[in-house]
Amino acid sequence: MSETSPNTVSMPLLDHRLLFVTGKGGVGKTSVASAIGMLAAERGKRTLICEVDAKGNLGDFLGVGPLQFEATEVRKKLFAMSMNTEESLKEYLRLFLKVPFVSRMGTLAGAFDFIANAAPGVKEILTIGKLAYEVKENHYDLVVVDASATGHVVGQLSSPVAINELVKVGLVRNQTDWMIELLTDHQQTGVVVVTAPEEMPVSETLELIGRLGGETEIGLSAVVVNRVLPELFSGDDEEIFERLRSGAPAEVLRERTGEGITDVLDGADLAVRLRRGRVSHMTRLRENLPSGVDLLYVPYLFHRSHGVRATGLIAEELGSELGF
Ligand SMILES: Nc1ncnc2c1ncn2[C@@H]1O[C@H](COP(=O)(O)OP(=O)(O)O)[C@@H](O)[C@H]1O
Ligand SMILES: [Mg+2]
Repeated sequence: MSETSPNTVSMPLLDHRLLFVTGKGGVGKTSVASAIGMLAAERGKRTLICEVDAKGNLGDFLGVGPLQFEATEVRKKLFAMSMNTEESLKEYLRLFLKVPFVSRMGTLAGAFDFIANAAPGVKEILTIGKLAYEVKENHYDLVVVDASATGHVVGQLSSPVAINELVKVGLVRNQTDWMIELLTDHQQTGVVVVTAPEEMPVSETLELIGRLGGETEIGLSAVVVNRVLPELFSGDDEEIFERLRSGAPAEVLRERTGEGITDVLDGADLAVRLRRGRVSHMTRLRENLPSGVDLLYVPYLFHRSHGVRATGLIAEELGSELGF
């Protein structure tokens, strides 16, 4: 086991104010972010969940249509929004610079694109800034972010520091100061890394955790291992299946029950092999994580539909992992 990372946080997940859910694309970030949001709302917390990807599908996981920048209540105490950096800039101009009639500034879009593309970190800070503002103003007890994938999230999270170093005085500097304070306060802000017991997701997870510790002061709150295959058979079962698959027993079985039995035994064999393969990735993850990181397991859901019901099931699994 490696050294205790200073960024490891041992604090109840739902007691944070701001959680960034990240991970390799496709591992289940949106599923887990939605489930955390649902769980928090069920436990009485006024919760906002926000997707940062404009083409995101968070609404599907919450059982509603496409989301807007304006947060809507999707179920009791659970609010959802989709990040839009231009809307975020307009809101910022209205709130902090008291620029009136921002909504009528037709040319803003062009100017915005120009600035956002010229200066690195502008879009990122408008994303982080909006979410941090919701926390600062106590509009919500918890804000859950369906954040960027592993490749981009460090840049996103460190954008206030990057801009802080660039701008030494003035309003922007004041803004980044409180943001950095909130983001680096491990009692308030944390990262949840979603992974799967597969080679690439585990590698990316370990790399991301290294970068979070090395390049930022943001806390790592939990690692969620998603799509864990259940142990369907005991060791004894496996041995019996093995015997039934070969030689004389297989012949007798086929005579008595028909050809279909071969598929059943092959299926059982596949399930065992898949699970064994995944165990080695899980072991690698566990052995290389900094000590003290909360590992939460979510089983593979054998469901055809992946809407709000699946989110509810994942929320239940996470809830029992968290001891509720
Ligand atoms: N525990 C699970 N079991 C089975 N399928 C899952 C599980 N978690 C997520 N999925 C499915 O995997 C796909 C990717 O999940 P998603 O949450 O959209 O990942 P990401 O946001 O990381 O791209 C979706 O179809 C989702 O329904
Ligand atoms: Mg997603």
